[in-house]
Amino acid sequence: MRNLVVTGGAGFIGSNFVRHVIENTDDHVTVLDKLTYAGNRASLEGLSGSRVDLVEGDIADAEVVDALVSEADAIVHFAAESHNDNSLHDPRPFLDTNIIGTYTLLEAARRHGTRFHHISTDEVYGDLELDDPQRFTESTPYNPSSPYSSTKAGSDLLVRAWVRSFGVPATISNCSNNYGPYQHVEKFIPRQITNVIRGIRPKLYGTGENVRDWIHAEDHSSAVLAILDGGAIGETYLIGADGEKDNKSVVELILDLMGQPSDAYDHVVDRAGHDLRYAIDSSKLRSELGWAPKFQDFEAGLADTVRWYRDNESWWAGSKDGVEAFYSAKGQ
Ligand code: NAD
Ligand code: DAU
Repeated sequence: MRNLVVTGGAGFIGSNFVRHVIENTDDHVTVLDKLTYAGNRASLEGLSGSRVDLVEGDIADAEVVDALVSEADAIVHFAAESHNDNSLHDPRPFLDTNIIGTYTLLEAARRHGTRFHHISTDEVYGDLELDDPQRFTESTPYNPSSPYSSTKAGSDLLVRAWVRSFGVPATISNCSNNYGPYQHVEKFIPRQITNVIRGIRPKLYGTGENVRDWIHAEDHSSAVLAILDGGAIGETYLIGADGEKDNKSVVELILDLMGQPSDAYDHVVDRAGHDLRYAIDSSKLRSELGWAPKFQDFEAGLADTVRWYRDNESWWAGSKDGVEAFYSAKGQ
């Protein structure tokens, strides 16, 4: 039984990970989360108080971080400002949390010799042409496009430096786009599902030809646990489930699953600097750690996700109007 500190554990993927740990290990979890607009206590509801504690605090607060890390066997670091569109509007919180917050955690891990796993994104690699036969691998050069992805790239480089210079026992994973329950309604899939529930037409940026490589959050969680348990210190692992889909097809599928005509959506103003395509080659993770995704059928996973948003309107209703006002002010 380990004591894990999970930063950002009240967010989308962090809360799915905490649930996965509770169901699959004997570990105790201390969630450190600032409960920003993206964090939600309700995402941890139903988890036993003896196995999970929630500490409300900032990962950039060295005192709070040190107290928790001094008691921890490992840190799993999900906390971040995570939304590209917000980073185009106001980049500063991305620097504070993604860079200074990660630095603060690394310093605590260095002081206490604590195992550290850093959660990152495939966006650090920039984007691919639609017809490029290559996919991202662990040796693809970094080439981030947005304020969000550049701060994630910076945080990855900090982790690598703290491993090499100070011997911090860290690993890194870079994952593709996640979907599933508890994702904030600002993100693509939940925005469109909740739009349809509210009688608003889904909104597709630009032409909708952009491709994302979808993975269920539960598969991301099982991969992170596999790396925490068996990953080699200093190594990076790419996480992906061979789920490439263009945005237009995803919107059409959502409309179809929700009983609407598949062309009942609007094209809206494109995202500035919009990455064209992400695609992950996860063979290192699969061959070295024996990991494989469980959710191979995107349509079935999406149907479950639609059901979850229909059944859990009280979880997202409070955020919906503010998110739509933010987008509509930008013509999105
Ligand atoms: P999210 O926005 O849903 O959750 C982020 C969580 O971090 C929230 O609970 C928030 O309150 C917390 N947080 C933010 N700033 C904090 C701070 N300063 N101190 C403490 N807590 C703070 O994000 P997500 O989509 O769950 O992403 C989690 C991680 O996974 C991020 O590091 C992100 O870069 C990475 N990632 C996300 C995806 C994806 O598809 N969503 C894919 C690959 C990697
Ligand atoms: O690739 C991993 C990344 O995936 C993570 O690092 C990020 O934290 C996560 O937010 C996600 O980034 P994206 O920018 O790809 O996700 P988002 O859900 O914002 O958008 C997905 C695609 O859908 C993207 O091409 C933009 C498009 N889009 C988005 C919204 C919100 C639309 O067409 N319409 C929309 O309303």
